[in-house]
Amino acid sequence: RPSRPQNQSGPSRGQNPLSSRSLSTRRELYEKDFPVYKQPVEVGCFSLDSERRFFNDGRQMRYYVEPDRSPNFDLRDGYKDRFIKRDDSVKEKLDHMLRWILANRSKLSSKGTASSCDLDVDFVTWRGHLTKLLTAPYETREGWLLAVTRFRGTLYISEVETEVARRDRENRTGRHKEMMYWGYKFEQYTCADSVHGRPDPGGVLNTNEAFCTVVQTRLADHRLLFSGEVDCRDKDPNAPAPACYIELKTSAEICTPKQRSNFHRFKLLKWWAQSFLPGVPRVVAGFRDDEGVVVAVETFPISKISHLIKNEHNCWKPTVCMNFCSDFLSFVKHIATEDNPSVVYLLSWEPRRDVTFSVHRDSPYCFLPHWYVEGMTS
Ligand code: A3P
Ligand code: MG
Ligand code: MG
Repeated sequence: RPSRPQNQSGPSRGQNPLSSRSLSTRRELYEKDFPVYKQPVEVGCFSLDSERRFFNDGRQMRYYVEPDRSPNFDLRDGYKDRFIKRDDSVKEKLDHMLRWILANRSKLSSKGTASSCDLDVDFVTWRGHLTKLLTAPYETREGWLLAVTRFRGTLYISEVETEVARRDRENRTGRHKEMMYWGYKFEQYTCADSVHGRPDPGGVLNTNEAFCTVVQTRLADHRLLFSGEVDCRDKDPNAPAPACYIELKTSAEICTPKQRSNFHRFKLLKWWAQSFLPGVPRVVAGFRDDEGVVVAVETFPISKISHLIKNEHNCWKPTVCMNFCSDFLSFVKHIATEDNPSVVYLLSWEPRRDVTFSVHRDSPYCFLPHWYVEGMTS
């Protein structure tokens, strides 16, 4: 473990991602100008049905229906008798995205133009993995493991569950399990299946179902292709994706200045990072009491969140998040040099440590399936 004073200035281990075996997550190192982040463009979408089957279309898209002024949604309703939960012990890795890529390859590769990589992107990953990178400089509790494979010039990033995360998942309390349902229940109260439809809070809630957007963008000199689950869109037929999308969230109602401050410092960071990445412009939040009743609904435009938090002392900064992510991706490009679908570079991070890595050949960490490797090679 590197030992150095916290306030050391000047060059330190990990400061230059291109000259080191490790990468620092210290905030001070990333307080630079905001890096180039191109407006994300939706290049496609896909859906997962009630049995988690993949469809190369938007059949699971839902439409936002604005709730009443005092909604009184009971988020506990249906937990016992109208809930089908996705099996989160099944690790899907990048499979759904890879299926989408194979089905839409012609949209991505520029055949005929000179390029060192087939897909014309540097990174393929899930939005959720990038969210973890953006928030790492401020994360004090949960570390992560990211597996990286270079294949035909593109770097694929897929998360590996940590031992701690697995233990937490297997030991969730009844109360925690029920509270995880509340977020999905809020979606059911506020979303309809069709443009002119109404929400159906009496129906069965199945968390296998998902609609995912696939976006392309660039962070500094990193061309990114990633997918993220989208909760719903507004009904205006003219609004183009991803500007029409809405992220739904629930949060404990705010009663004290301390609670407000914590909401700004911790929750808004997560909300901002998750939606800023794919260019989703707003979050609709349902504030609920301890009994799971939504007492207020409020819209947070993503572009206003950085102003909202400016009064918090020592608060998170979007530029730190984006600069760390950019440097992390440079670090990955630098270390993951062997182009081979059966080689995995495992990047591991724990709060208050540097990011380190190890290399694994033909190991259980391999995550690019044969059908993908063959599909891309033929
Ligand atoms: P909330 O967002 O209201 O907490 P998302 O908002 O990302 O679309 O996720 C929908 C819901 O899934 C969440 O609602 C929460 O209930 C549940 N959920 C998602 N990620 C979770 C996690 N890491 N731990 C616990 N619950 C999670
Ligand atoms: Mg969601
Ligand atoms: Mg949501």
